Amino acid sequence: MSQRIDAKDLNIYYGAFLAVAGVNMSIDPRSVTALIGPSGCGKSTFLRTLNRMHEVIPGARVKGTVEIDGIDLYGAGVDPVAVRRQVGMVFQRPNPFPTMSIAENVLAGVRLNNKRIGKSDANELVEASLRGANLWNEVKDRLDRPGSGLSGGQQQRLCIARAIAVKPQVLLMDEPCSALDPISTLAIEDLIAELKSEYTIVIVTHNMQQAARVSDRTGFFNLEATGKPGRLIEIDDTATIFSSPSEQATEDYISGRFG
Ligand SMILES: Nc1ncnc2c1ncn2[C@@H]1O[C@H](COP(=O)(O)OP(=O)(O)OP(=O)(O)O)[C@@H](O)[C@H]1O
Ligand SMILES: [Mg+2]
Repeated sequence: MSQRIDAKDLNIYYGAFLAVAGVNMSIDPRSVTALIGPSGCGKSTFLRTLNRMHEVIPGARVKGTVEIDGIDLYGAGVDPVAVRRQVGMVFQRPNPFPTMSIAENVLAGVRLNNKRIGKSDANELVEASLRGANLWNEVKDRLDRPGSGLSGGQQQRLCIARAIAVKPQVLLMDEPCSALDPISTLAIEDLIAELKSEYTIVIVTHNMQQAARVSDRTGFFNLEATGKPGRLIEIDDTATIFSSPSEQATEDYISGRFG
């Protein structure tokens, strides 16, 4: 399994509105790619096309292809549910199921996939996923308490545990630290660095330092004007983007001389 992602000539629509145009992007397996750019340029929209979460919005559709290891996610006969199992997602706001216990939250994705799982296997999976998300030590004595009783940072790590419990190949994260304090943020960043050895990770962030810290490659999206589609302006090694980008717009954005 190599988990390479290739978006080709991707146009993303909400009804008649072309929100993101002409994206070509290749993402190496077991790497971290950060997506940056101003609000409204289509980062979240693009991210959601990588696991077919975009089309759950009425009228939303894509043109072009997104391949994972050469197989088009949008090809005929591809089951979107199977795609979402392969490509997990963590959202900006931690969204644990509030009445479910911590352990059941971790298992929620697995249960949704209709996998029958025995009790001891379930316990093992809960522990392994919580360890993977760097949360085990904090919650191991209260696994049967509600997920909503955790701090924001812990809830976000719980959602990461839930995402990795289904053993995806790719993990998409949309501003996973935007609601978190600096300590929880660092915990998530450490976790991303660890997860990279197993997963291909794509993270949207408004925090340039974070992009510089966690990612191997950085893509800059921009938007000419309101109502115009967002575009991928450039993508390159993170060090290059932050030291000598090719495009003036990228330079302006990362140096804060924007708008
Ligand atoms: N559900 C939707 N229906 C219609 N238009 C939408 C929908 N979601 C987003 N859009 C539009 O698509 C464009 C891109 O939005 P998107 O949320 O992808 O931007 P973003 O780069 O993630 O911004 P932010 O940094 O604020 O999260 C915007 O013009 C937005 O208004
Ligand atoms: Mg967004």
